[in-house]
Amino acid sequence: MPDIAIIGGTGVYDPSILTDVHDDKVMTPFGEVIFKVGTYNGKAVAFIPRHGSHHSIPPHKINYRANIWAIKKIGVKKIFATTAVGSLNPDMKPGDFVLIDQFLDFTKSRISTFFEGEGGKVVHLDVSEPYCPHLRQVLKKSAEKLGIRAHMGGTYVCTEGPRFETPAEIKMYAKLGGDVVGMTNVPEVTLAHEAEMCYSTVSMVTNQAAGISKTPLTHAEVVATMEKNGANIKNLIMKAIDL
Ligand code: HPA
Repeated sequence: MPDIAIIGGTGVYDPSILTDVHDDKVMTPFGEVIFKVGTYNGKAVAFIPRHGSHHSIPPHKINYRANIWAIKKIGVKKIFATTAVGSLNPDMKPGDFVLIDQFLDFTKSRISTFFEGEGGKVVHLDVSEPYCPHLRQVLKKSAEKLGIRAHMGGTYVCTEGPRFETPAEIKMYAKLGGDVVGMTNVPEVTLAHEAEMCYSTVSMVTNQAAGISKTPLTHAEVVATMEKNGANIKNLIMKAIDL
């Protein structure tokens, strides 16, 4: 049974880094989840492409609860997630990785908890440390060993999507302390936290955010940068699994 899972974001759909890959599925209270399980250097690893294997699920329609429930059920304890992000921070450039440690939540329509008040139980989760500091250190070490540029810490702004942001929104997020912007990390991170799993995220900067970039944003630009640096993100995570 795998105790490690990779949740692949935009551009990370391919579990070919693993050997002996097979499909698996788990029924959850929120629907069925189909994922891959394979091996890397003798370690069993589960792999879920967050947007589906053909990027067919938009950010606001991802079944976050089912995904986290499914990997918890099969015994996963550590999660390495990847996300494509736009940058608001001039130091964080396209191609850079950011090992995020905080988030600002601007999502609007997502069910964001497993705790729905059943049996009169009200749960208020502490999220002072939303991302697993241990896995962040491991990822940092992995980046150092590979000579990959990775920023230690950063605040992820999660928007509802699927549209990109207006330049005015980006100015506001920057004033509020955001470093990078994406559409998927919330509620994934907090659900994993509720499920008491060690959750980390490698964000890859694919573009400068709207209004900072001189040209209109396109999904093609995001995917192109992701593809160009796809080998790096895979190496970073696989090295981290080894450490
Ligand atoms: N905004 C929101 N999500 C993103 C971006 C962006 O600029 N780039 C990649 N995902």
